[in-house]
Amino acid sequence: KTINVILSGGVGSRLWPLSRKSRPKQYLPVFEGETLFQKTVVRNRNLCQGLILVGNKENYQLSRENLKVLGVDHYNEIIEACPRNTAAAIAFAALSVDADDILFVTPSDHLIAEGDAYATAVNRGFELAANGHIVTFGLRPSRPETGYGYIEAQGEEVKSFREKPNLDTAESFLKKGNFLWNSGMFCFQAGVFLEELQKMEPEVYHASKAVFSNSKDGFLDYDLSMQIPSISVDYAVMEKTKKIKVVQADFQWSDMGSFESIYDYYKSVGHPTDSNGNMVIGSDKHTEFVGLKNTLLIHTQDAILALNKDNAQDVKKVFERLEREN
Ligand code: GDD
Ligand code: MG
Repeated sequence: KTINVILSGGVGSRLWPLSRKSRPKQYLPVFEGETLFQKTVVRNRNLCQGLILVGNKENYQLSRENLKVLGVDHYNEIIEACPRNTAAAIAFAALSVDADDILFVTPSDHLIAEGDAYATAVNRGFELAANGHIVTFGLRPSRPETGYGYIEAQGEEVKSFREKPNLDTAESFLKKGNFLWNSGMFCFQAGVFLEELQKMEPEVYHASKAVFSNSKDGFLDYDLSMQIPSISVDYAVMEKTKKIKVVQADFQWSDMGSFESIYDYYKSVGHPTDSNGNMVIGSDKHTEFVGLKNTLLIHTQDAILALNKDNAQDVKKVFERLEREN
């Protein structure tokens, strides 16, 4: 059985103030009137037989509303009491199914062009997963992005997986030419994943198992969850496992993770920008930029962000500071 596991527990801190704790970015209906969450469900529902949502208690209602709009009513929910990062989130999903079920794990906040290239890549992923591999999907990089993982590839073989390198390292990867961006989607048999997690991060494995076996109707316990080390699946498993493979994919893919990608997306759909790369988001007020380049002005009802596009990753720091102050 193939099951799409949608991770939707992140808050999208780099998209503040568009994205808020109460309304994370995957539920913003700003992509042709649809949310990224809905687009994810629709893109995968013909490729997978089952659906599991791993969200949290702040947002599972939003997921339910989104699914209702789509008329999807067959799915399972795992509702975290607090985010413990992606290694644990995936472990919960893997613990909830049969060991030989194939999980196709996808984030909920990407924009991907559906179509043949996507279906071909995913189906190849299923084949490799059926043979016991842990499958990543690699995309040709177009800039030395430091917010992604990189896959050193030779055909479908993976020589190394390097999560979030610094800028110098990312630049050297681009020069070498055989490094791909990790798309953030993964495919494997549930049992294979759990074995690897147990081997590489036994504490995460055991703590996640304790939490899952104490869950009630999909709801996880807060105190037990806080015992799980917070580590992403990229560091916990992908950098270490020898079972890793890569499907080189060439579908259109964009991680709506920061305002840099939002800018690119808005530009591609014809949203106004001036010749210096300045853009206003969220307001119709006439705005002039004088002496400014690559500046984004982001309006919401109660906040304005003025951002130099080169510093798009730093918005996270603002979000974190505001969290601390509140
Ligand atoms: N349920 C749950 N619980 N989901 C979570 C949690 C959690 O604790 N933490 C994050 N997520 C969800 C996010 O909502 C997102 O959909 C997905 O898991 C990935 O988390 P991100 O926080 O967005 O990861 P990233 O963007 O820094 O890095 C990952 O994606 C990149 C591509 O977009 C890595 O896999 C990189 O290697 C990859 O290049
Ligand atoms: Mg992301």
